[in-house]
Amino acid sequence: MKPEVLNRMNIVRGDITKEQVDAIVNAANPTLLGGGGVDGAIHRAAGPELREECRTLGGCEPGEAKITRGYRLPSRFVIHTVGPIWRGGTHGEPELLASCYRNCLRIAAERGLRTLAFPSISTGAYGYPIRAAARVALSTVAAELEKYPNIEEVRFVCFSGSDEQVYRETLRELAAASEGSHPA
Ligand code: APR
Repeated sequence: MKPEVLNRMNIVRGDITKEQVDAIVNAANPTLLGGGGVDGAIHRAAGPELREECRTLGGCEPGEAKITRGYRLPSRFVIHTVGPIWRGGTHGEPELLASCYRNCLRIAAERGLRTLAFPSISTGAYGYPIRAAARVALSTVAAELEKYPNIEEVRFVCFSGSDEQVYRETLRELAAASEGSHPA
């Protein structure tokens, strides 16, 4: 992971609905009509207009992403993505999770957005083990950021201290591992 990519990736602990970024990412379900967890928090904070706009989108396939306005949220946009439900890891979950991150970044880049915040997609109700999910999230975003120099910052917003700890450890491991592949 190149330093110019690493220094655009930040791990924070907090409530994603408070993040002051161009877009926050929502870990939604295929209906896009709201739910619990971070989905519920985002809809509560954004207000009823969010669900009204989501209703016009016709749902979202796992791995795909769709963008709406942020309404009462501090962020101008919400990028809704649907993560994989964990079924043991041999049903394409890692690839689907990676495509969530890739599609969110593609949409952000297409819209000229500069700052983005992700929750830990699929690691709550969808049961994806946190360390495996963090590895997919961080390595996918690092690879994609090389393609999108105009995206200035990606934040990984962890809701719990233990998730934050796992993300920090995983980022260190990935950075160290890539040191070997291209020494500074
Ligand atoms: N800010 C940041 N992260 C949050 C917040 C918040 N306010 N609330 C919850 N989280 C974290 C959880 O702790 C977890 O680490 O978001 C991560 C994702 O958990 P879920 O919200 O349960 O999402 P997911 O596992 O992708 O399951 C999606 O749950 O809410 C429903 O409609 C949603 O059916 C869909 C499913």
